[in-house]
Amino acid sequence: MRILVTGGAGYIGTHTLVALHQAGHEAVVLDNLSNSSATALDRVALITGTKPEFVQADIRDREALEELFSRESFDACIHFAGLKAVGESVAKPWEYYENNISGTLTLLDVMRRHGVKNIIFSSSATVYGDPEVIPITEDCPKGQCTNPYGWTKSMLEQILTDIQKADPEWNVVLLRYFNPIGAHESGLIGEDPKGVPNNLMPYITQVAVGKRKKLSVFGNDYNTHDGTGVRDYIHVMDLAKGHVSALKKIRENVGLAVYNLGTGVGYSVLDVIHAFEKANGIRIPYEIGERRPGDVDANYSDPSKAWKELGWKTEKTLEDMCRDSWNWQKKNPNGYEA
Ligand code: NAD
Ligand code: WQD
Repeated sequence: MRILVTGGAGYIGTHTLVALHQAGHEAVVLDNLSNSSATALDRVALITGTKPEFVQADIRDREALEELFSRESFDACIHFAGLKAVGESVAKPWEYYENNISGTLTLLDVMRRHGVKNIIFSSSATVYGDPEVIPITEDCPKGQCTNPYGWTKSMLEQILTDIQKADPEWNVVLLRYFNPIGAHESGLIGEDPKGVPNNLMPYITQVAVGKRKKLSVFGNDYNTHDGTGVRDYIHVMDLAKGHVSALKKIRENVGLAVYNLGTGVGYSVLDVIHAFEKANGIRIPYEIGERRPGDVDANYSDPSKAWKELGWKTEKTLEDMCRDSWNWQKKNPNGYEA
């Protein structure tokens, strides 16, 4: 298939480009590079041997989208483009709603005007809020999000659901990602956060590479096996392959479908630190700090719907995730910056 990949220069996008290539699909990337670098696409080319066509543009730029859709034909869009920093979204709600929601509305309008009505949307486990039951199935009611970023995902799921209901020609696959970490095994592409990392694994790798002194563990009084927060970490290459599997559903004219993409296994912050130390032979200095507002005790998926309906299952272990995260960081101590 010929796929438009919005946000394709980003962390999950670049890994998905590799998975798409391996599965024989052709991708065109549209990204405004607000949180990524064109170098990432050169690196994808080193892995796959082919550089995907790249359009530097914003999903809010109707003219640019019109020009692209008039020139090219697409079978589907995988829509990663969006702002994703939880804390920043609390400080800049307008920017998050405008970028993520206005941008997606513009994209959807141009898509339908050009008869492209197949979309895979990057949603998040954050839409469940503080889940009533774990492991979380897709039937678990969506909850109160704790930040504007989460609300953009929850609202966009609703918008896409309503659009598909009104026009059954649409095929919409909502993928709720749990906690993607890891990198392509080559170490050529990986997660490259700007500034101080918000998420656990990039913080750990920056401690390991000597950029940060020690990790602060956000609370050890949660209701979990060791008191630290439990999450469902998923290797980004497994996640990337989930998108390829979801394309099969688009081909089958699924209408609307929702899938959790996770491993179904929860690990605590201390589990991850110890797994990283064991996999890489590096000590990670840490201290126990305050809880981070908005964090929940435990959050992990029941991914069995994706196993059954997509024939997709995660293959990589926490050890693989830790080894590949470190391989990327040590080869690229400053990310994509030379
Ligand atoms: P990322 O920031 O690395 O990638 C997003 C890409 O979108 C970036 O390259 C950025 O430049 C681009 N972008 C942002 N706004 C844009 C706009 N208006 N027009 C064009 N391009 C724009 O993030 P990621 O981790 O690869 O996440 C990809 C998607 O998955 C996002 O929608 C994110 O919300 C979602 N998601 C991520 C996680 C996670 O933990 N990484 C978890 C759940 C869901
Ligand atoms: C994991 C665990 C922290 C950093 C976030 C978003 C979510 C989704 C994935 C996009 C928690 C602890 C972290 C640190 C720590 N993104 N931690 N010290 O919060 O589960 O999910 O990313 O959709 O929406 O909220 O991931 O990696 O930030 O935290 O102790 O320096 O690590 O408290 O228990 P989270 P995370």
